[in-house]
Amino acid sequence: MLASADPYRHMAKARAGQPQHVQLAALLEERAAEAYHQQLREAAITEALRDVTHAVALDVGCGTGPFCRALSSRPQVAKVLGVDPCATFIDEARRLSSNPQKESYVCGRASAVPLGDHGADLVIFWTVLLHLHPDDVNSALQEARRVLRPGGRVLLGDNDMGRWTIADAAHDPLHAPLQFYIDSFVAEPDLARRFPELLCGIGLQPGELEVSSVIDRTATSYGCRHVMLRAIEAFKLADKVGDQLIEAMKHEVQRRLAADNFQITLSYAFCVGSDLNRAAANSEPNPSSDQDDINEVVFGML
Ligand SMILES: C[S@@+](CC[C@H](N)C(=O)[O-])C[C@H]1O[C@@H](n2cnc3c(N)ncnc32)[C@H](O)[C@@H]1O
Repeated sequence: MLASADPYRHMAKARAGQPQHVQLAALLEERAAEAYHQQLREAAITEALRDVTHAVALDVGCGTGPFCRALSSRPQVAKVLGVDPCATFIDEARRLSSNPQKESYVCGRASAVPLGDHGADLVIFWTVLLHLHPDDVNSALQEARRVLRPGGRVLLGDNDMGRWTIADAAHDPLHAPLQFYIDSFVAEPDLARRFPELLCGIGLQPGELEVSSVIDRTATSYGCRHVMLRAIEAFKLADKVGDQLIEAMKHEVQRRLAADNFQITLSYAFCVGSDLNRAAANSEPNPSSDQDDINEVVFGML
C-alpha cells in the first residue's frame, strides 16, 4: 500500500501555497459541479436537515466549500462553518462563497476543530474520513461529538471505493490499474460501509446507510479523466508494467469510448447519525446561530 499516493492524506502537515493545491482546488470544484454529485449532496442534506430549523452546521474538511454553499442555500440553516487544513482551499472557499452572511471558513484540523463544546447542530464529513490516517478517524469523530449540540446530527458521506469497477467482463485488464489506484490511495476502501457502526461508536443513532452509484461513460466524465486515466498514470509511475502495456491500456480506454461502451461504476455512501436527545433539544434555536457568537467562538479558539 502506498499511503502517500493520496494527495489529501498529509494536507494537515503540508506547506501552504503549493501549486498542486491550486490544481486540487479546481478538481474538487469540478467534481462538485457534476450533476450526480449535486444530486447526492442534495439528498444527503435533505436527510440531515429533516425537521431541523436554525441550524448551525460545521463542515469538517470542507475543501473549497461546495457542501457549505449547498447548505447555506437552505432556509433551515442559519450558519455554516467550513474548516480545512489547506489554506489554498480556504481562500478559494471564501472567494466562491455564495452567502457570506451565513458562511465562514477557517483553517483547522478534524482533531482540533475551532469551535466550542456543543456549538453545532450538524457536523459533516463529506469525502474526508477516507483520506485521514486510519488512526485519526476515531479522534475526528470524537471531536465531532464534542462540538455536537445535544439532539444534533452527524452526516458521514464518502466514496464507497470497494465497489468501484471498470470491469465489463471477468479478468478485464483495465481493472488492474483501477484496483492498484484504490489500494494505493486509501487504507480502507470499504470504510463507508462501517459508517453506521462508527456513528454508534460516538453514541449516535444511525439512520439507513444510503448507497448509490453512477456509471460514467464519456471522455469528459470525472470517472474517465480523474479516476481511470489517473489510475493508469499511477500504475505507470509505480513501474507496475512496461510502457507498452501502459500505452495499450490507454488505447483500450479510447477504443471503448469510441465504441460507446466505456463504463466505470463509482459507488458512494452516506449515513446520518442522530443524538437521541433530539426531541428535548429540537425546540430551542442554537444560540451559536448568531453570527457574532460564531465568529467569537471560532476566532477566539484559533
Ligand atoms: C476529497 S477532499 C473533500 C473536500 C470537500 N469535503 C468536498 O467534498 O469537496 C478531502 C478534504 O479533507 C481535507 N483534510 C485532509 N486532512 C484533514 C484533517 N486532518 N482534518 C480536516 N480535513 C482534512 C483536505 O484538505 C481536503 O479538503
